Amino acid sequence: MKKLIYAIGLLCTTLYATGQSADATLTIQQNNSGLTISRHIYGHFSEHLGRCIYDGFWVDEKLPVQKKDRIRLDVVEALKKVKIPNLRWPGGCFADEYHWRDGIGPREQRPKMVNTNWGGVTEDNSFGTHEFLELCSLLNCEPYISANVGSGTVEEMSKWIEYLNFNGESPMAKIRKENGRTEPWNVHFWGVGNESWGCGGNMTSDYYSDQYKRYAAFAKNYPGAPLKKIACGPNTADYKWTETCMKNIPLNMMWGLSLHYYTVPKTWREKGSATSFTEQEYFTTMKKCLYMEELVSRHSAIMDHYDPEKKVALAVDEWGIWTDVEPGTNPGFLYQQNSLRDALVAATTLNIFNNHCDRVRLANLAQTVNVLQSLILTQKEKMLLTPTYHVFDLFKVHQDAKFLPILLNSPAYTMGNEQIPAVNASASVDSNNVIHVSLVNLDAAKTINVSAVISNLPWNNVEGQVLSSAKVTDINTFEAPNTVKITKFNGAKKNGNNLSVSLPPHSVVVLQLR
Ligand code: AHR
Repeated sequence: MKKLIYAIGLLCTTLYATGQSADATLTIQQNNSGLTISRHIYGHFSEHLGRCIYDGFWVDEKLPVQKKDRIRLDVVEALKKVKIPNLRWPGGCFADEYHWRDGIGPREQRPKMVNTNWGGVTEDNSFGTHEFLELCSLLNCEPYISANVGSGTVEEMSKWIEYLNFNGESPMAKIRKENGRTEPWNVHFWGVGNESWGCGGNMTSDYYSDQYKRYAAFAKNYPGAPLKKIACGPNTADYKWTETCMKNIPLNMMWGLSLHYYTVPKTWREKGSATSFTEQEYFTTMKKCLYMEELVSRHSAIMDHYDPEKKVALAVDEWGIWTDVEPGTNPGFLYQQNSLRDALVAATTLNIFNNHCDRVRLANLAQTVNVLQSLILTQKEKMLLTPTYHVFDLFKVHQDAKFLPILLNSPAYTMGNEQIPAVNASASVDSNNVIHVSLVNLDAAKTINVSAVISNLPWNNVEGQVLSSAKVTDINTFEAPNTVKITKFNGAKKNGNNLSVSLPPHSVVVLQLR
């Protein structure tokens, strides 16, 4: 599929060395496959980590903001606007030390625990199963629960599913009712362990795939609630892990296999600042972000070998940029600012996922509020939308739209003797026949003039929005929340049957062709 739909060519860059613009060509093809871009590619992830759940979604009763119970409603409204399709919870590494029965029943009686992964803080379990599912209902999104394999038992997982999904008379359904919830929630997305190769138990792929089959056998489908079971997949380029899982686990036992990959600007030891970086660091970050293309292609190729009909989804259920924490904040809380660079990482990654929508059918950016590449930052009653939020706002048009394959010939963005494609893109057509094209120009200095051919798809006019700012280091702050924002785009024109687009440096542009 990659060859057919997504060809990126690097043109001779010396031609552009002195100029401030370069040319790209784009062909948008018809969809002959019937493929759609699953809305679940646009999912998010919220762990009991730092200020994501506590102080992000779930706040102090006395905080002067609108709330339902203790759920912050301004955050809910903002996420509804970008049509959040699913939310993964409770972890992350936290999932494999979480015991769900500690998070149900009267809150004052819930046992406390130590969050050993994230700052060693005391977790009071006030946000548990009922609170999470209430949050999902307010967000109008699907829950995606990651269950404990590392320190839990098959029985514990199996009973959680009965508690959540069984609509009859049973021990767990009885307790659920006693806790105030009559109807089952019918949760579908079900993760069987998290990073079982690391914080989830340091397992080998052979050991994990055996464990997966055992846990999955007792993860029952109750009437009206068939589970979409997601096996723990590889860390980054661990192709052996993918191979083992695909070989050992029967296809009908898993809906998806996960993949985790983070874009780390420098090294895991010293990740690099979120707000202060050179153009060289920016370039390296984008190069690392583009590595997602290779990861998805190579893991998909292994999956194709065992699953040529592409029944099993590749679920990239943790991705995003991971930088140093903001100075003066708890290193275990992973609180980082969010710049225009992060928005370019998000848009580029989402373009990659869209173009691989035959296999990538779920993804979760880490982590929604106040942790890693957040959409939202909060400070007491204040809330701000990050540059990354605006990307999800722009790209929501692709959710469940028909995928349109593209052929893209991009000039190079050159730094020293390294090159990356300056432009990336993806396209879809929605149920009203509106064509949506998302384009990213990674070049920090050059305008890229894109000449596009839209094959056999009728359209008469073009409109667009652009997300950019003066510098790639620009951020939104509580004092200046609109430095990086969406504005109307006037750089696209119809030329006969062709489309010409003038992409400003370091920008994200989304066009609608009607
Ligand atoms: O998202 C932060 C952490 O990164 C998650 O808890 C873990 O799964 C991953 O290593």
